[in-house]
Amino acid sequence: INQDKIRNFSIIAHIDHGKSTLADRILEMTGAVSNREMKAQLLDSMELERERGITIKLNAVQLQYKAKDGNTYLLHLIDTPGHVDFTYEVSRSLAACEGAVLVVDAAQGVEAQTLANVYLALDNDLEILPVINKVDLPSANPEHVIQEIEDVIGLPADHAPRISAKSGLNVEDVLEMIVKEVPAPSGNINHPTQALIFDSFYDSYRGVVVFVRIKEGSIKVGDTIKFMATGATYEVTELGVRTPAEVKKDKLVCGEVGWISASIKSIQNVHVGDTITTLENESHEQLPGYRKLNPMVYCGLYPVDNSKYKNLREALEKIQLSDSSLVFEPETSQALGFGFRCGFLGLLHMDVIQERLEREFDLELIATAPSVIYKVFLTDKTMVEIDNPAMMPSPQVINYIEEPYVKASIMTPNEYIGSIMELCQSKRGEYVDIDYIDETRRNIIYNIPLSEIVYDFFDKLKSSTKGYASFDYELIGYRESKLQKMDILLNGDVVDALSSIVHKDFAYSRGKVICEKLKEIIPKQMFEVPVQAALQGKIIARTTIKAMRKNVLAKCYGGDISRKKKLLEKQKEGKKRMKAVGSVEIPQEAFMAILSVD
Ligand code: GTP
Repeated sequence: INQDKIRNFSIIAHIDHGKSTLADRILEMTGAVSNREMKAQLLDSMELERERGITIKLNAVQLQYKAKDGNTYLLHLIDTPGHVDFTYEVSRSLAACEGAVLVVDAAQGVEAQTLANVYLALDNDLEILPVINKVDLPSANPEHVIQEIEDVIGLPADHAPRISAKSGLNVEDVLEMIVKEVPAPSGNINHPTQALIFDSFYDSYRGVVVFVRIKEGSIKVGDTIKFMATGATYEVTELGVRTPAEVKKDKLVCGEVGWISASIKSIQNVHVGDTITTLENESHEQLPGYRKLNPMVYCGLYPVDNSKYKNLREALEKIQLSDSSLVFEPETSQALGFGFRCGFLGLLHMDVIQERLEREFDLELIATAPSVIYKVFLTDKTMVEIDNPAMMPSPQVINYIEEPYVKASIMTPNEYIGSIMELCQSKRGEYVDIDYIDETRRNIIYNIPLSEIVYDFFDKLKSSTKGYASFDYELIGYRESKLQKMDILLNGDVVDALSSIVHKDFAYSRGKVICEKLKEIIPKQMFEVPVQAALQGKIIARTTIKAMRKNVLAKCYGGDISRKKKLLEKQKEGKKRMKAVGSVEIPQEAFMAILSVD
């Protein structure tokens, strides 16, 4: 097929506006999957985890579409696999496209991530094609939403297809628009080969399989490919496309999107965003990679079973293959043993990674409370960055501490403005502005310490606005704050993994809440356990976990083995996710308790 008949595009949207549903319809309408397969696939993806489902279903699918102009076009629908963090959607797939279909819900209108995604698409110079979805809903107001897209985003939208991704209504118009408005890929098949890696995964038989967009030249089976960042070379054993079933081909040419496997066993040589060239037709210029996103949130991950430390390292390495924004380094905790300090783009990202580690790699983990990076200025005029509260230097050598602030924009219907401002105020927020969106909605802007956003801000926002507000934030820099480390002692010993950084004005109330919370969460032990909060060694709060009264086995009579077994079994269940810290058994929730403020 001719290069001018190729179209590479992504679908972008605010959460729940119908991105996956539209993708499913497009797969169906282009005959990529039959109705029956469609169902089977959806069932599959329910069983597999969500991001896996998306990866299999969408990750760079090649489709054929016979357009109304009589030509057949080759469409590549490229989706960001993996997580969609509400802070930064990692849209590296966008760099492999020329266009983006922007789905906006006809009842909800433009939301915070609609805007965030548009900016990412603009960063990548993409043609943005607005589509109004869910016009079948009784509350749909497409005309209003079109006006909003023009006013808020500044994108002409009067021609936007008004569709129902659910029923398939007008979805064909979307395909026609893609064919007409997304530019064909540029690039020359005779130029030195350059291919952009936008994703990769590990297959136990084939090794690392990479997904690439060929920007210049071509790659064939048998070619020797070179990863430009590391210089590593491999012979291509197989390559092809997904339709979404895997189809093998002899070569991929410029403009195309596909997968390459080359018996790559060493994960370290493959980096998403790197350029591949071939020795047969070598380029010496790297494509512009991705803007490296820096982790915003850190936590410690520890295997419940200490002997699984190596497995955890391997699992993290494998996940990092397809998710270069994950960073990790070894860490030891007196309380938890050997583990890793891991950095994430945001909380959702952290959740997703933890879940993948547990489900895909069958690991049981204890995660410590997330922390931001503090800049600690010392009396000797040096500065250290601290991402683990336990590592905070002693107050005697600290001059002052800075913490990261974000600019939060919250889009909301007018009636919730009051409660949102109250929430922001309680999170040490600083009012900046309120922008007008239309007569019923406003965009509220606050500067808030990132550490306050880190835990329950999003949940609180959702519950105080019945889910109607949407939220996005960006880092604006560091500011000095009155912060100090608070330690937690169990049975008289400091548990390093429970230390946290608190604002001076809230230290006492927080200490009290945390002690109460821990008392609730930590099960009774065979002996009494005092729980204490301390600032610089001075106890500021205390509670006591009472001793357990009876041993479970005490209830058994004599030799009833099966009953005894059952009880022990039950006790073992209850012990899941417990970690013995000194003489005290602590459940996972305890490590999150230090974040609860109310
Ligand atoms: P995330 O993957 O969570 O970001 O969401 P998404 O943008 O992919 O949305 P998804 O396709 O999962 O759709 C969200 C919800 O909206 C689902 O319950 C869909 O069934 C529903 N939905 C999608 N399109 C339509 C539509 O055209 N009409 C109606 N009534 N519902 C729709």
